[in-house]
Amino acid sequence: MIIIRPEQPDDMGTVHALNEMAFGQPAEAAIVDAIRTACPDVLSLVAVDDSQVVGHIFFSPVFVSGESSSARGMGLAPMAVLPECQRQGIGSLLVHAGIDAMRERDCPFIIVLGHPEYYPRFAFSPASQHDISCQWDGIPDEAFMVLILDDDAMAGVSGVARYRDEFDQAM
Ligand SMILES: CC(C)(COP(=O)(O)OP(=O)(O)OC[C@H]1O[C@@H](n2cnc3c(N)ncnc32)[C@H](O)[C@@H]1OP(=O)(O)O)[C@@H](O)C(=O)NCCC(=O)NCCS
Repeated sequence: MIIIRPEQPDDMGTVHALNEMAFGQPAEAAIVDAIRTACPDVLSLVAVDDSQVVGHIFFSPVFVSGESSSARGMGLAPMAVLPECQRQGIGSLLVHAGIDAMRERDCPFIIVLGHPEYYPRFAFSPASQHDISCQWDGIPDEAFMVLILDDDAMAGVSGVARYRDEFDQAM
């Protein structure tokens, strides 16, 4: 049975290796390490199967700011499941647990840059529909998605969504 729980200090090395393995490159693992160290306001959850960490999801602050409005939410990035454990629903458990945790924190929105076929099943929709744009050029419209959790807090909020600077190293 898969359990989703907050990452513990002992998990950090495994989480690093898991991200490297799932993405086939070191960038995402390095971003997680850098932000975890620099920013106290993150959420890092792991999926555990019989005491083995098989999946990971990470959230860090994102600001949307326009000319007359701004809001602070969270960015879902990165997320990874061990290659041999993919397509068994573990990623979905992680996303649902992350969304639930963000609701409990009164987070007004979650933003994600990722597979356009994957995140709409969790009710993410293109951020452009909410007049929210990506800080990086060349991102396909359908790959930059948002889930609004608090309509009141997000009323009239539009503009550019900015991730923490650590992400710039990978983009
Ligand atoms: C994306 C990822 C986290 C999904 O985890 P998972 O445990 O396989 O997800 P689930 O089992 O809940 O859902 C499986 C669905 O995800 C989708 N999916 C999985 N990998 C995908 C990919 N590379 N591209 C598009 N869709 C993908 C498929 O639609 C699949 O549905 P199907 O089995 O009906 O075809 C996992 O595939 C992964 O670690 N990939 C490598 C790292 C990565 O790309 N991370 C996400 C960055 S946005």
